[in-house]
Amino acid sequence: MTIFEISKPNRIGFELPENNIEDFELNIPEHLIRKEQPNLPQVSELDIVRHYTNLAAKNYAVDVGFYPLGSCTMKYNPKINEKIANFEGFSMIHPFQPHETTQGALKLMFELKEMLCEITGMEDMTLIPSAGAHGELTGMLIARAYHLSKGDTKRTKAIVPDSAHGTNPASARMAGFEVIEIKSGPDGRVDLEELNKALDENVAVLMLTNPNTLGLFEKDILKISEMVHEKGALLYYDGANLNALLGRTRPGDMGFDIVHLNLHKTFSTPHGMGGPGSGPVGVKKHLAKFLPIPEVIKEDDKYKLNYNKPDSIGFIRSYYGNFSVLVKAYAYIKTMGNDGLKKVGQMAILNANYLRKKVEKIMDIAYPGFCMHEFVSTCEKFTKETGVKALDIAKRLLDYGVHAPTMYFPLIVHEDFMIEPTETESKDSLDKFAEILAKIFDEARENPDFVKNAPYNTPVKRLDDVLASRKPVFKFDFGK
Ligand SMILES: Cc1ncc(COP(=O)(O)O)c(C=O)c1O
Repeated sequence: MTIFEISKPNRIGFELPENNIEDFELNIPEHLIRKEQPNLPQVSELDIVRHYTNLAAKNYAVDVGFYPLGSCTMKYNPKINEKIANFEGFSMIHPFQPHETTQGALKLMFELKEMLCEITGMEDMTLIPSAGAHGELTGMLIARAYHLSKGDTKRTKAIVPDSAHGTNPASARMAGFEVIEIKSGPDGRVDLEELNKALDENVAVLMLTNPNTLGLFEKDILKISEMVHEKGALLYYDGANLNALLGRTRPGDMGFDIVHLNLHKTFSTPHGMGGPGSGPVGVKKHLAKFLPIPEVIKEDDKYKLNYNKPDSIGFIRSYYGNFSVLVKAYAYIKTMGNDGLKKVGQMAILNANYLRKKVEKIMDIAYPGFCMHEFVSTCEKFTKETGVKALDIAKRLLDYGVHAPTMYFPLIVHEDFMIEPTETESKDSLDKFAEILAKIFDEARENPDFVKNAPYNTPVKRLDDVLASRKPVFKFDFGK
């Protein structure tokens, strides 16, 4: 129910005070003056409080229950970091304030950049990009600028493995590259022969996720790095899902030249929350001059914004990045410390492997064996036998109060779940999830139609996905 449906004429929740300024005159041009009252909902304060409280209670969130959304890292993030980001000194500053009055904010950005460089093994970094995909685009523009700066205009190709996150080929294309897809090997990792065939003097960059979207670590990464650099190309690291590597190893040490991170996954801002994200891009020294402007620099113990970078790819958005996300990342890294971050990596891997061992008794694991922070399971055979699809199982999970895992991704696995328990879940919640999953498979064997018609307990039942994508309705219809 929308707020307009509970509206009753003349019900009032809030009244603006009478204007008590004498000789008050607003010089609004006649054509801009509203001729009719706006169509606002007429509700009491209690109506509106109840309405939004009820809506909030219908929402599913990581604060409500298990959220194993692979490749999206919906982990619990300490609330203290939200509090810190809301400090007035951070939340009320204006981007146009003089530098002398924003030294604390600039210092935070400068130090965050240094900490993230240390964590990733990179030598310089921009905090400006607003999301992972935005970081990728920034990284691709840097790769392009690098080759062009050497007068090398023939490098028009970007290689992307078929297991890559969908944003990778899209970002490479947006930056003007031709995307060359290479098939993964039978173990789900980069096939060195395929890579060798695709690598030539026209390749600008290879984009890789490690661990890849199957949750597997690219064991041949040093060899891959050597092959790519030998051909004069750059190696790009999609570090959206860094949890598994934290404190263990660094993309910079593996030979990557450009790295993007998703602070809204690994560093204390939830992914998929609909709010601001942040996708910092780190580079090795030889690419630092191409980073976007402005950059935060320190001169004579003072911090300032530097716009004077003649080789920079320029502005990639307004201002200096999504600052509140940066504050949360800073607070998170400082409160976790080296040992805490290392533990994040350990727990992300331990939890994923513990759950994988439980799930493999229920579903097939697409690429069996040790995984990193996530793994991909498939019920393709089960679907052929029973007609019950991964989508039906996912809908039934909602009935049990569990958010469904990511599905039908990566595209090289069918009828799959991409499961990421994250480092913040307890053994109890992992056991419970496996128990529920096993129960649903039993239900599907006994009565496939029952599972095919799930969910039964959610506020909204099964939606028509096709209709929703073909004829989306984005706003309330005032016509009624
Ligand atoms: C591996 C990988 N790369 C890139 C992205 C894109 O990040 P964003 O959604 O912030 O654009 C994601 C997001 O889920 C991802 O999992």
